[in-house]
Amino acid sequence: MSRSFETIAGATPIEDWTGRNRLYHKPSDQYFVMTAHDGRFFQRRYQLDTRGNEVNSLELEIQYAIGSGNHERDYIHRLPSGEFVQFPVVWYAAEKRWGMAPGYDRPDHDGFSRRINYRCIFCHAGYPDISSGADRSESQLSLFPQVMPSGVSCERCHGPGQLHASNTRAESIVNPAKLDRKHQMDVCLQCHLETTSAALPNSVLKVGRDIFSFRAGEALESYAAYFDYPKGAGHDDDFNIVHQGYGLAKSQCFVKSSMTCLTCHDPHRPADNPQTFYNAKCATCHRMDVRVHGEDCVGCHMPKRRTDDIVHVIMSDHYIQRRPPNNLLSPKPERTGDRFRGALSFYAPEPERDLYMGLALARGANVTGGVELLERAVNRQKSAEPLFQLAGAYANLGKRELAVDAYSRGLKMDPAHAEARYNMAISLMDLGKLKEAEEALREALREKPEMADAYVVLGTIEVRLGHTEAGRTDYLQALKFDPLNTVALNNLGLMELQLGKTDAARGYFSEVLKIKPDDATARQGLLRK
Ligand code: HEC
Ligand code: HEC
Ligand code: HEC
Ligand code: HEC
Ligand code: HEC
Ligand code: HEC
Repeated sequence: MSRSFETIAGATPIEDWTGRNRLYHKPSDQYFVMTAHDGRFFQRRYQLDTRGNEVNSLELEIQYAIGSGNHERDYIHRLPSGEFVQFPVVWYAAEKRWGMAPGYDRPDHDGFSRRINYRCIFCHAGYPDISSGADRSESQLSLFPQVMPSGVSCERCHGPGQLHASNTRAESIVNPAKLDRKHQMDVCLQCHLETTSAALPNSVLKVGRDIFSFRAGEALESYAAYFDYPKGAGHDDDFNIVHQGYGLAKSQCFVKSSMTCLTCHDPHRPADNPQTFYNAKCATCHRMDVRVHGEDCVGCHMPKRRTDDIVHVIMSDHYIQRRPPNNLLSPKPERTGDRFRGALSFYAPEPERDLYMGLALARGANVTGGVELLERAVNRQKSAEPLFQLAGAYANLGKRELAVDAYSRGLKMDPAHAEARYNMAISLMDLGKLKEAEEALREALREKPEMADAYVVLGTIEVRLGHTEAGRTDYLQALKFDPLNTVALNNLGLMELQLGKTDAARGYFSEVLKIKPDDATARQGLLRK
C-alpha cells in the first residue's frame, strides 16, 4: 500500500517503455506511444491522415503513477492549475501490456480530459498538503500541490499521532489491532469498501465532513453514507475491483464469527507463500479433512475472478461461498456508460434518510425524486453543501431561477465556495443576467484564481458585451492554468476569424484538434476561409 501512489520516477519500473510501447486503438482510430528519456516519462497520442502522415499529435509528461502495479497502473499529468489529468492509456499487470484505461475502450473516449479527484487520492495516498477547506465538498476542484505524499501513509491506519519509539504520547496513536471489531474494520473500509461502482454513487460524504477528514478509530458512517443497487436490479452478483469489504460482509464466515481483515492480513507483513499462509488461516476455524476436501481452500472458495468495473483486472473474491459461480475468468466486454435509473438502497442503517437519499438520487439515478427529498431536508441544515447540490439538481432539470435562489442561499452560509459561485453564474447567464453573472465570476476567481473554466465563461460574457480585448485576455488566462482547455482555444479561434485573422484562427483550431481530434467547432473552423 505504501507504493499505491508515487512519482513516476520513484515507482517500481514494471512497464515496457521501449519494445512493445505502442498501442493502436481501433474504435477511436488513435495511436499511442509511451516513452522514457532522461529519467522523464511521456505518453503521446496521434492519428494518421489519408497519406499516412502523423496529425493531431499531443505529448504530455507523466508525473505520477497510481497503483503499485499488482493489477493496473494509471498515470497522471499535473496541470499548472494543480489539477491532475488522467492518461488514456494504462498498464495492465496481469496481461503485461498497455491498454485503454477503464471506460476508454470506445470511439468517443475522454482522451486527456478526465480528472483524478480528491476521492481517488483519499484511497491511494496520504493526506496531501492542501489549503484548509479546499476539500469541504465533492463539487470543488481537486487542486494538488507540487509535492505529494507517496503511498498510503502511517497516519491513515494509526491516526495523526506521532509514530516514533521516543514518543511519550503513545495514547494518541491508534493501534488497529486493539480497536473493537467495528472500528477496526472501519480503518480498512475507509479505502476497501466500494459497495458498487462509483457512478451510482457508492457513497456520499456526510454533511460537514471534509474529504480528507476521516481518522482511524472513528466510525465510517460519521464520514460517509453508502449506497447499493436495490436487490433484483441485475446487480446482485457484481464484482468490483475494490470489493473486499463488501464481499467479506456477505460471507457466512464473517457474519457468524468475529473475523476482521486482520484475521487474514497483517498490513506490515505480506505473506511469503500466500497459498499455505491463507489456507492455514481457514484452518484456524474450520477443521476439514483435507484428504477428502482438498488443501487449497482459497482456490475453491475465494477464487480469482475478473472484475466487472475494470475488465482487464483479476482479483481474489472475498465473498466466501460454498459454490462460487462458474467461468469467473472469461473475458468480458466493458460495460457501456449508460447510467442506472431507479431507486437506490442504503447499505447501512441511516438516521437522516431523506437528506442522504436525496443527495444520492440527485446525482442521476432519479434527479426529480432526489430534489423532492432535498427540498424537505435542506431547511433543517446549517451547512451550505446540501443547498449547493439541490441547486445543481435544479440546474440539471432546467429550473434556473430555483437554482440561482438555492445557490445564493447557500453562498450566504459559505461565501468562499468559488465553485458554487461559478455554477450560479452559469445559471445566471442562461437567464440572460450577464452583469450579475460577470460579478459572480469575478468573485469566484478572487477566491480561486486557478478556475480556468470561470475565465472562459467570463471571456464569453466580455465578448458578448462587445469587450473583445478583455475577452481575449480572459481566454489566455484560462489557458495559463489549463493549456488543454479546448473551449478557450475554440473561442480564441472564432474571435480571430471574426477579426479576419485566418492564420491565427487556424493555429488555435489545430491546437484543439491535437487535444480533441473530433472537435466539431475546430473542424468547421478550419474549413472557413
Ligand atoms: C488509505 C487507504 C487504505 C487504507 C486505510 C487501507 N488500505 Fe489496503 N490498500 C489500499 C490501496 C490503494 C491498495 C492497493 C495498492 C496498490 O497495489 O497499488 C491496498 C492494498 C491492500 C492489500 C493488497 C496487498 C498490498 O499490500 O498491496 C491488502 C492485503 C490490504 N490493502 C489490506 C488492508 C487492510 C487489512 C487494511 C486495514 C488495516 C487496509 N488495507 C487499509 C488502500 C488502503
Ligand atoms: C474507496 C477507495 C478508492 C477510491 C475512491 C479509488 N480507489 Fe483505486 N483502489 C482502491 C483499492 C483499495 C485498490 C486495491 C484493490 C486491490 O488491490 O485489491 C485500488 C486499486 C486501484 C488500481 C490498481 C492498483 C493495483 O493494485 O495494481 C488503480 C490503478 C486505481 N485503483 C486507480 C484509481 C483511480 C484513478 C481512482 C479515481 C478515479 C481510484 N482508484 C479510486 C481504492 C480506491
Ligand atoms: C494499512 C494500514 C496500516 C498502515 C498504512 C500502517 N500500519 Fe502500522 N499497523 C497496522 C495494523 C493493522 C497493526 C496491528 C497489527 C497486528 O498487531 O496485528 C499495526 C501495528 C503497528 C505497530 C505495532 C503497534 C503496537 O502497539 O504493537 C507499529 C509500531 C506500527 N504499526 C507502525 C507503523 C508505521 C511506522 C507505519 C508507516 C510507515 C505504519 N505502521 C503504517 C496497520 C497499518
Ligand atoms: C474466524 C473464523 C473463520 C475463518 C478464519 C474462516 N471461516 Fe469459513 N466460516 C466460519 C463460520 C463461523 C462459518 C459459518 C458456519 C455455519 O454456518 O455453521 C463459515 C462458513 C464457511 C463456508 C460455508 C459458506 C456458506 O455460505 O455456507 C465456507 C465455504 C467457508 N466458511 C470457507 C472458508 C475458507 C475457505 C476460509 C479461509 C479462506 C474460511 N472459511 C475462514 C468461520 C471462519
Ligand atoms: C478469510 C481470509 C481473508 C479475510 C478475512 C480477508 N482477506 Fe483479503 N485476501 C485473502 C486471500 C486468500 C487473498 C488472495 C491472496 C493472494 O492470492 O496472494 C486476499 C487478497 C486481498 C487483497 C489483494 C487483492 C485481491 O483482491 O486479490 C486485498 C486488497 C485484500 N485481500 C484486502 C482485504 C481487506 C480490506 C479485508 C477486510 C475487509 C480482507 N482482505 C479480508 C484472504 C482474506
Ligand atoms: C476442490 C474444491 C474445494 C476445496 C479444495 C475445498 N473445498 Fe470446501 N467445499 C467445496 C464445495 C464444492 C463445497 C460445497 C459442498 C455442498 O454444497 O454440499 C464445500 C463446502 C465447504 C464448507 C461448508 C460446510 C461443509 O462442510 O459443507 C466449508 C466450511 C468449506 N468447504 C471449507 C473448506 C476449507 C477450510 C477448505 C480447505 C481445507 C476447503 N473447503 C477446501 C469445495 C472445495
